[in-house]
Amino acid sequence: MKAIAVRRGSAEPVVIEKPRPEPDPGEALVRTLRVGVDGTDHEVISGGHGGFPEGEDHLVLGHEAVGVVEEPNGTEFEAGDVVVPTVRRPPNGTNPYFERGEADMAPEGEYHERGIVGAHGYMAEYFTSPAEDLVPIPDHQAPLGFLIEPISITEKALELAYASRSSFEWTPDSALVLGNGSLGLLTLGMLDQVYDRVYCLGRRDRPDPTIDIMDELGATYVDSRQTPVDEVGEAFEPMDFVFEATGYAPHAVQSVHALAPNGVVALLGVPGSQEYEFDVGAMHGELVLHNKAMVGSVNSNVRHFEAATDSLDALPDWLLDDLVTGIYGVDDFRKAFVDDNTVIKTAVEFSAYEER
Ligand code: NAP
Ligand code: BGC
Ligand code: ZN
Repeated sequence: MKAIAVRRGSAEPVVIEKPRPEPDPGEALVRTLRVGVDGTDHEVISGGHGGFPEGEDHLVLGHEAVGVVEEPNGTEFEAGDVVVPTVRRPPNGTNPYFERGEADMAPEGEYHERGIVGAHGYMAEYFTSPAEDLVPIPDHQAPLGFLIEPISITEKALELAYASRSSFEWTPDSALVLGNGSLGLLTLGMLDQVYDRVYCLGRRDRPDPTIDIMDELGATYVDSRQTPVDEVGEAFEPMDFVFEATGYAPHAVQSVHALAPNGVVALLGVPGSQEYEFDVGAMHGELVLHNKAMVGSVNSNVRHFEAATDSLDALPDWLLDDLVTGIYGVDDFRKAFVDDNTVIKTAVEFSAYEER
């Protein structure tokens, strides 16, 4: 079967041939429909994040998959069920995080991430997975099921952030998303449904397809070249909630100053090492004297994937149409990895979905 992989020593994805995997007991064989590409994939390809499976000369890419069960292999699935796999797997047998269904809370070393670190991903014509790591989704979501994983990332971050505000009456009505990539814009679409006022930060000139989406949503575009994040409060308004999805490390510090009293910032970006000079006393004081919170969030578990299926249905069709800028077959896969300002979200299609 064909798979898309990156080889050690190379920063270019290539198509390779691999044997079709055989499901072990408790695993199903899944025929891959589509696999999305996000900023993390670019970081993995460039060597900035992730790592190869031990003893392997390549890593099959892809962690945002949707597929159809081909062989249930004695699991609870039926052939034809549409499923989305979670990302993390235990490195050696299992461990308490996985046993509790909280693999997303496991520390480094206690997990592999398929397509990212230590385990092959889903960019192949078929993959196998333990049944408990496959989330069934409604058939009508098959074409866009590759968006469930990124939406689940936001579900988890919101859960963690809101939990930190659960001990008092918190009535947020302004939210700022930092970053106009696919994670930022999906999140903006979700927050737009619950917040009175939403803002989104980027660093581009109009005309730009991501700013068009902000306009259409009725969100306010914040250009970080004109308004640094720590000045957003004065230039626009203090924000009850900030969702960081730029991966630009200084935003972590600056966003504390963009928050309204009692506000919370969720950090999602995975930056490399970066030095940055700032007033740590001012940041510390803001967090304490205004009861502000900052939470980091990574990965997601089955519960978040399930919540994401509802959130996907709730997003307007026009937003999904504008967000998904290209779906490419394996022969054309390089286009899915183009990373310029015309591209928002792409996916590679391994097989077409046929309604049952
Ligand atoms: P992406 O497509 O690379 O999006 C990042 C966006 O941030 C880009 O549109 C970029 O703008 C913008 N940006 C970067 N620096 C900026 C600055 N200084 N001012 C204004 N805008 C800035 O990545 P993504 O897939 O949306 O993911 C976003 C981040 O979240 C990445 O770091 C990714 O690794 C991380 N992530 C984390 C998790 C998790 O579980 N924690 C899950 C998914 C993704 P330009 O395009 O104009 O440069
Ligand atoms: C993936 C997560 C993963 C994170 C860190 C994200 O792009 O969606 O599942 O935990 O990267 O590797
Ligand atoms: Zn991702």
